[in-house]
Amino acid sequence: MKKKEDVFERNIVLLGFMGCGKSTTGIILSKRLGMKYVDVDKYIEEMTGRTIPELFEQGEEHFREEEHRAMSELAGQTGCVITTGGGVIMRDDNIPQMKENGVVVYINTPFSLCYQRIADSDRPLVHSNTREQLYDLYKLRRAKYRAACDLEVPGINGSRPVVRAILAGLGLEGR
Ligand code: S3P
Repeated sequence: MKKKEDVFERNIVLLGFMGCGKSTTGIILSKRLGMKYVDVDKYIEEMTGRTIPELFEQGEEHFREEEHRAMSELAGQTGCVITTGGGVIMRDDNIPQMKENGVVVYINTPFSLCYQRIADSDRPLVHSNTREQLYDLYKLRRAKYRAACDLEVPGINGSRPVVRAILAGLGLEGR
C-alpha cells in the first residue's frame, strides 16, 4: 500500500477456503470502514437468478464461468469490501481482476475449523467430496491463495481478531 487512504478508493478482496470466515469478517470490516459490502456468490445468484447449488447442477465448469463473469464485472468497482467464493483462485484469469482495483487479503483458517463450519451446509463441493478430498483441496488452494494475496491473516479466535489483523496489515489500526 502506498498511502493508507488508497484503500478507500480501491476494494478490499477477501480470499480463503469455504468456512474460513470471509462473510462475517467482510460484513464487520465494511461497516467499520464505511465501505460497501459485496458477496460474489450472492452477486452471481442475483445475476443469474439461480442458486449456487442450481448452478453446480449444470456442472462446476458452468459455475466457474458465471463466477468469472461476476469477477469481471466487479473488477470495475471501487470502495467495496468484496468476499469471494473459496474456489475463485482456481482460475488464473480471476486474479488480475481482483488486483485491478483491489488489495487482496487471505484469511488462513485451519482446515479443522473450516470443516466444522461447512460440514452441514448445502455447499455442492461438500456434498460431492469426502473430508479427506476436501483437505487435499484445502492444501492445493492454500498455495494459490498465498501466491495471489497481498496480505495473509490468521483466521482463528473468531472474526473480530481477523478484522483487527486486517486493519493493522493495511495500516488502518484505530479505525
Ligand atoms: C466454492 C465456495 C463457495 C461457493 C461455491 C464454490 C468453492 O463459497 O462459491 O460453493 O469452490 O470453494 P464460500 O467459500 O463462500 O463457501
